[in-house]
Amino acid sequence: MSLNTNAFSIKPKQGRRKFLLRLSWTGLSLAFATFLAAMISFVRPRVSSRPAMSVKVGFPDDYRPGQVVYHSGRKLFIVRDEKGFLSISAVCTHLGCIVVWNGDHNMFLCPCHGGKFDAEGINVAGPPPRPLDLFAIRLDDNGSLVVDQNIIIRRAKDPATRFQSGNA
Ligand code: FES
Repeated sequence: MSLNTNAFSIKPKQGRRKFLLRLSWTGLSLAFATFLAAMISFVRPRVSSRPAMSVKVGFPDDYRPGQVVYHSGRKLFIVRDEKGFLSISAVCTHLGCIVVWNGDHNMFLCPCHGGKFDAEGINVAGPPPRPLDLFAIRLDDNGSLVVDQNIIIRRAKDPATRFQSGNA
């Protein structure tokens, strides 16, 4: 009877030892695989998956003088006034909230901390330290207005230079 008891007491210990050994190897293997994946992603050339930063925003005649149009997917406004076109970033220069156009007050208003910008995006009230940024805007060969969001124009409080399409 006692032999049987010893036999039963040894087997669970061996089983536990094997289990712990397998667990250790599994942990080490996972750690090594993670390290290997990190090394491969570090060495592999990075290809940007960002969307194209040039965007067609329509033809000049699509905009009436005095009109402000928001392109939400690009977080930008196209402003057409008597002097031409502006492509204004909708990102507030204070802490990055998205401003909204208020046609009644002829201003861009920031909902976060009360920042106010005039129709050219110049900061006129509240905490924003500088005007809204501009993006480069041009006509392509087909006569479409193209905004290039790679070219960001930071400006001081001077009147913004307009893009002239010839129709403005
Ligand atoms: S984020 Fe616009 S005023 Fe603060």
